[in-house]
Formats: sequence, structure tokens, C-alpha cells
Amino acid sequence: MPTVQELYELWADDSELRDALTRSLDPRGPDWLLDVFGSLGPQRDDLLVDVGARDGKHSAELARRHGLRVVALDPVPQHPDVRVGTAEELPFGDGEVDWIWCRDVLSHVDVPRALAEFARVLRPGGAAVVYVTLPTELLEPGEAARLADACALTAVTAAQLETAARDAGLHERTVERLGSEWREAMAESGHWDPAKDLLSLARLLRRRDELAARYGDAAVDAAWGGLVWGIYQALGKLRPTVYVWTR
Ligand SMILES: C[S@@+](CC[C@H](N)C(=O)[O-])C[C@H]1O[C@@H](n2cnc3c(N)ncnc32)[C@H](O)[C@@H]1O
Repeated sequence: MPTVQELYELWADDSELRDALTRSLDPRGPDWLLDVFGSLGPQRDDLLVDVGARDGKHSAELARRHGLRVVALDPVPQHPDVRVGTAEELPFGDGEVDWIWCRDVLSHVDVPRALAEFARVLRPGGAAVVYVTLPTELLEPGEAARLADACALTAVTAAQLETAARDAGLHERTVERLGSEWREAMAESGHWDPAKDLLSLARLLRRRDELAARYGDAAVDAAWGGLVWGIYQALGKLRPTVYVWTR
């Protein structure tokens, strides 16, 4: 620990360290995930299932790029082309599916059941591309519990997820622990404004009781969860991770 005097000397310097922190590390952004899928060699007319698709925009883009057949599933579909369905009960026979795309969904689901379904429906040699945001050792237990309540999360850890994948018979082809990379890329490109989210959070915290009385606790907690989601990634409390699991 520095003395107070040493600390203020450190802060007073225009240091190389501070300059270094202003330089981009050329982070990978969300489009990189589409390239990960492309690198697996999908063939025209292969069947891709988008699990937890919401509006299905990512699988629609994959279909466009690779000429795939796509079935997009979500319990709360937000596009007419997305069918009602859950990760825990995939409406396919054994080995019928070539590819699974599951982006930002596994934090909400019963992971052992979902991964058993992935393994069941994938054909031998098929693969699941999974983007999932996992807690790190920097996320304090109180923060984890509050986030889980606010955002309907199971709070699955990396170790639990990886054990569930092995138990389901999925083989880990690659794992990329992205950490804050997408958030850095989104902030650098202007697609995410961390200062705006921090300001909203500060306002939410100051007006919490009044907002809760007007909109309800669940709405205010969900707004809080949505705002800290990106900030916690930037702080290293949540770690977006990409797995490619093969059958
Ligand atoms: C953060 S959104 C991600 C949507 C989309 N994959 C994307 O990347 O834009 C999470 C989605 O998971 C869906 N979801 C929640 N529980 C699910 C379940 N048990 N099975 C499949 N999807 C689920 C939600 O309805 C929501 O659309």
C-alpha cells in the first residue's frame, strides 16, 4: 500500500500508464461470434436451431450468409418467424440438428436439462455455439443474489456449466473467455454509452422508492439489472464466454 504522499505523487504525474489506458486494445465485438460460426464450415441447407432467439436476427443473418435452414425458438418470441419453445425441450428428434446457436440465454435456463437436449438433438459432428455471461470471483455474493433476482438468472458458474456440458456428452472444442472485450468494442464504436448507463443508475438509486411506487419493484429491479449488466462486465464481475461444443 502506498503512503498518502506517494499516492498523490503517483496521481500528479502525467504517466505513461495513464496514456496506455487511453489506447484501444482492438477488442473483438459481437460480429466476431458470427465469424466463429462461419469457421465451423456450415453447408447450404444445414439445419441451425437458434435457442432463445428473441427476434431471431442473428440466425436470420447466419441463414443469409450460409444458406441454412433455420428454426428460431423462444418462450417469448418477438418476431413472427420465431416459434414458441424452450432450451429444455427442443422439438426435434435425436441427431436431427446440424448446428445450435445460443446467444445470451443459458443464464436463464435449467442448464443440465438444456445441455442434455443440445447433445440429444445434435448429429454426430454437429456443434453448439454458445455465448453466455458468467459470474467471476469479483462478483460479491450480495451482488450475485440481487442480479439473479432482478434478471431471473440461475447464477450458474463456469465450473457448473462446464461440468454439465461434460455430463451431457458435449466435447469442448474451444472456449474464449471474452471478459470485457465486447463492451470495449461497443463503447469504442458508440454502440454502448457506459456514461449514460452510469447516470441512469445513479438516478435510479436516488429515486428508487418513488420509481418503485409508480412502476413496481420488478420493473425497477429489472431496469437496474439491465444497466449493471454491461457495467459489471466492464468491471470484471461478469465474464462473457463463448463455448463451441461438439457432439
Ligand atoms: C438476452 S436475450 C437474448 C436474445 C438473442 N439470443 C440475442 O442474442 O439477441 C435472452 C432470451 O432468452 C429467452 N429465454 C428465457 N428462458 C429461456 C428458455 N428456458 N429457453 C429458451 N430461451 C429462453 C428470453 O425470452 C430472451 O429472448
